[in-house]
Amino acid sequence: MALVALSISLCIAILDTGCGTKPSDFHSLCKLEEKTVHCNGKRLISIPQDLPAGTEKLFLDGNLMQTLKNATLEQYQVLQSLSLCKNGLETIEPGAFLGSTSLTVLLVADNDLSTNYSVTATALWTLLVLQKLDLSGNQLTEAMMSTLIEHLSSLESLSMARNAIMRLDDSHFKNLPKLQHLDLQQNYIFEIETGAFEGVSGLQTLNLAYNYIPCIVEFDLTQLQILNVSHNHIEWFLAVENDAVFELETLDLSHNQLLFFPLLPRVNKLQTLLLTHNKMNFYGNFSNHSESSVQLLFLDGNVTNITTHELWEEMSHSNLSFLTFLDMSWNQLWYLPDSFFEGMVSLAHLNMSHNCLTTLCIHEKELLKTLVDLDLSYNQLLDIQVNFGPEVSLLSLQRFNLNNNRLHGLPAKIFTHTKNIATINLSKNPIEICTPHGAGSSSCVDISNVASIRNLFLAGCDLHELGNDIFQGTSLAYLDLSNNPRALLNGLGPLEDVAQSLQVLSVRDTGLSAARTEMDFSAFQMLVELDLSENSLTSFPESLIDLKLHTLDLRRNHLHSLPQHAMQKQLGKSLHTIYLSQNPYDCCKLRWWDTLCNLGTVHIADMSQVTCNHSSRFINAANLPEYVLQNCSWLAPDMTLLYLVLAFPTCLALLVASAIIFLTFRQPILQMVKSRYRTSSPY
Ligand SMILES: *[C@@H]1O[C@H](CO)[C@@H](O)[C@H](O)[C@H]1NC(C)=O
Ligand SMILES: *[C@@H]1O[C@H](CO)[C@@H](O)[C@H](O)[C@H]1NC(C)=O
Ligand SMILES: *[C@@H]1O[C@H](CO)[C@@H](O)[C@H](O)[C@H]1NC(C)=O
Ligand SMILES: *[C@@H]1O[C@H](CO)[C@@H](O)[C@H](O)[C@H]1NC(C)=O
Ligand SMILES: *[C@@H]1O[C@H](CO)[C@@H](O)[C@H](O)[C@H]1NC(C)=O
Ligand SMILES: *[C@@H]1O[C@H](CO)[C@@H](O)[C@H](O)[C@H]1NC(C)=O
Ligand SMILES: *[C@@H]1O[C@H](CO)[C@@H](O)[C@H](O)[C@H]1NC(C)=O
Ligand SMILES: *[C@@H]1O[C@H](CO)[C@@H](O)[C@H](O)[C@H]1NC(C)=O
Ligand SMILES: *[C@@H]1O[C@H](CO)[C@@H](O)[C@H](O)[C@H]1NC(C)=O
Ligand SMILES: *[C@@H]1O[C@H](CO)[C@@H](O)[C@H](O)[C@H]1NC(C)=O
Ligand SMILES: *[C@@H]1O[C@H](CO)[C@@H](O)[C@H](O)[C@H]1NC(C)=O
Ligand SMILES: *[C@@H]1O[C@H](CO)[C@@H](O)[C@H](O)[C@H]1NC(C)=O
Repeated sequence: MALVALSISLCIAILDTGCGTKPSDFHSLCKLEEKTVHCNGKRLISIPQDLPAGTEKLFLDGNLMQTLKNATLEQYQVLQSLSLCKNGLETIEPGAFLGSTSLTVLLVADNDLSTNYSVTATALWTLLVLQKLDLSGNQLTEAMMSTLIEHLSSLESLSMARNAIMRLDDSHFKNLPKLQHLDLQQNYIFEIETGAFEGVSGLQTLNLAYNYIPCIVEFDLTQLQILNVSHNHIEWFLAVENDAVFELETLDLSHNQLLFFPLLPRVNKLQTLLLTHNKMNFYGNFSNHSESSVQLLFLDGNVTNITTHELWEEMSHSNLSFLTFLDMSWNQLWYLPDSFFEGMVSLAHLNMSHNCLTTLCIHEKELLKTLVDLDLSYNQLLDIQVNFGPEVSLLSLQRFNLNNNRLHGLPAKIFTHTKNIATINLSKNPIEICTPHGAGSSSCVDISNVASIRNLFLAGCDLHELGNDIFQGTSLAYLDLSNNPRALLNGLGPLEDVAQSLQVLSVRDTGLSAARTEMDFSAFQMLVELDLSENSLTSFPESLIDLKLHTLDLRRNHLHSLPQHAMQKQLGKSLHTIYLSQNPYDCCKLRWWDTLCNLGTVHIADMSQVTCNHSSRFINAANLPEYVLQNCSWLAPDMTLLYLVLAFPTCLALLVASAIIFLTFRQPILQMVKSRYRTSSPY
């Protein structure tokens, strides 16, 4: 009882706070929410003067305020955050913020502040505690920018994205000691002079994405944690060669023109290195070491400075022991230098898809113990070598993607150490599956007894007819065998070992044919998704009707109809989606189709493409023309007539026989009738 009382009072308390927005907070135009006011998109030409004086956050985006007039914010003394994006704002009058001593956030993105920037600058200078300023999308040049931010020494975050900045030097960011976040993406920056960021010694994140930077040399921003220079034209990235400690954790160099692996700071805290979509390669094979160096010429005033860099040798010198995420996909790597992974003792995600690798060797010293995700898809791999020393490699590997290569097999013992491997994609490789005799060879893949594996992709491998115990000792949940036209010519036998565990199975185009083999799915009790398309099934496998399938694909088979009762059992209860098109269904036997459509619970995903065969013409089953129905019903009586004609002689014979019997026993029968009537009739 006490409990009930407590819960009631709790409810009341909750209701009470729910009604906290008092009617006095109502405003005709704007939405008031505690100390926040939303007046977005109201065609306002000036700041409303009748808002609560205690307003702390004010959103006025998408209005029509060309000028922010003197003293318009005077009465909002405690205003902390003001947003005036997309207003066509040209001028902020010098006295606009007088009295706004608490303003810490000013968002004026997508306006025309370049028009009268010097006047606006005077206004900004009055904001003594401003921490965050968004000036993106205002057509500002670097000169305008430096005027606008000149005295904002309290600034911590500045966005100058989408402006017209072309070059940066040490005059542009002066006196911003607290600046931590600087966003310069989507400008036209093609040059950054040495010392450009000297005035912002506390900078932690710098975004220079989508500019025209051709190279970064002598990179020396030691305090920087995140550097984003993706989508530029960078061919070189060279950090200064000294033993300074760099705080750099994330470096995004993706979508550039990098020709070499970047020369990273020797001492760094790099965790994420993104190098996707570049032109990187290693050139150790093409020249000897004395030639793999480059000399850089620095012109500083009348001083010329020449420095020499060893191109990729240096890479092994930088300590990448914190690196967890390395993306080198979409480059032109032919090979990896010896001991490339040495020292990468934290690497968890490695993506080298879409390169030109032909072999991959993992040496004894490079244990890759922490690697979870290894993506080597879309290469030219013919061979993978893993040297299994006394210590165990690839211990943590969970996902291994080898899709689209030229592998025939994998190292024999590769899965004996990878105790956590769950997903393997070997699709589009000319692999062989090891037979019991072939196991132990590296010219085939041995999946059997890899207990941890759950998801296996073997699509388009041109597999031979599968043997019966290839999946022994595994408990696969997801198996893709599609596009191996010979794989299941002998039926479902090879899947017996995984029938109990499979949840998703694709046997599209695997040579299944009901005519040749018994297709018994009754053991696949966990199955929820089944793709049987592109086989030559002539009849619906009866055993499916007791499964709990959600999705069933029957496209491109030779089915003439589905059993009328298919949807009355378990299948009808669980099925969500079915694919049926490209089968020669008989237009005159579509009762199953009507039942299915009327069921309402099953989504026929390719409804409009389902056709049926009517005298060798294919007609859309979803709206059969009237004449087809007529022809069918015309055909149907035809059939009864036929049956009548066939039955006629039998009937005649029966009739004659009964007539003879009747005539022979006429007397007794008549007497019997008479006698019965006599007794029963009450005359
Ligand atoms: C706005 O205020 C500034 C300084 O408070 C003053 O110099 C300027 O003349 C004023 N402008 C207008 C249009 O009133
Ligand atoms: C710039 O601002 C001043 C002062 O508010 C104003 O008089 C002038 O008309 C503005 N110029 C433009 C081009 O908007
Ligand atoms: C770098 O900036 C681009 C453009 O804004 C963005 O798409 C990308 O996610 C950023 N990279 C990182 C590592 O945040
Ligand atoms: C490059 O050299 C290494 C060893 O020196 C060799 O294993 C590899 O096959 C070579 N790669 C190419 C593309 O020539
Ligand atoms: C290696 O470098 C030396 C000296 O620079 C040169 O004489 C030699 O031809 C080079 N060898 C190759 C294979 O390029
Ligand atoms: C060249 O550099 C020297 C010293 O570094 C300096 O005294 C001189 O003025 C410079 N000349 C020019 C033309 O800049
Ligand atoms: C030239 O390079 C040397 C050594 O790297 C360095 O000490 C010196 O400051 C550089 N001079 C200029 C003008 O960059
Ligand atoms: C790399 O740095 C880590 C952490 O600072 C250190 O423990 C390790 O010894 C370094 N490795 C090398 C090869 O210098
Ligand atoms: C690897 O990169 C490719 C292409 O950029 C991407 O499609 C794929 O999802 C990545 N793989 C992993 C495991 O992140
Ligand atoms: C495996 O490879 C196939 C064939 O290219 C692809 O369709 C599928 O998405 C891949 N699966 C995973 C999990 O990478
Ligand atoms: C379509 O039906 C006709 C008989 O109406 C039959 O002869 C023909 O083989 C059927 N076509 C297909 C593809 O099954
Ligand atoms: C079906 O009916 C149409 C029009 O009534 C006729 O042209 C066609 O020959 C008929 N087809 C069959 C198989 O009876």
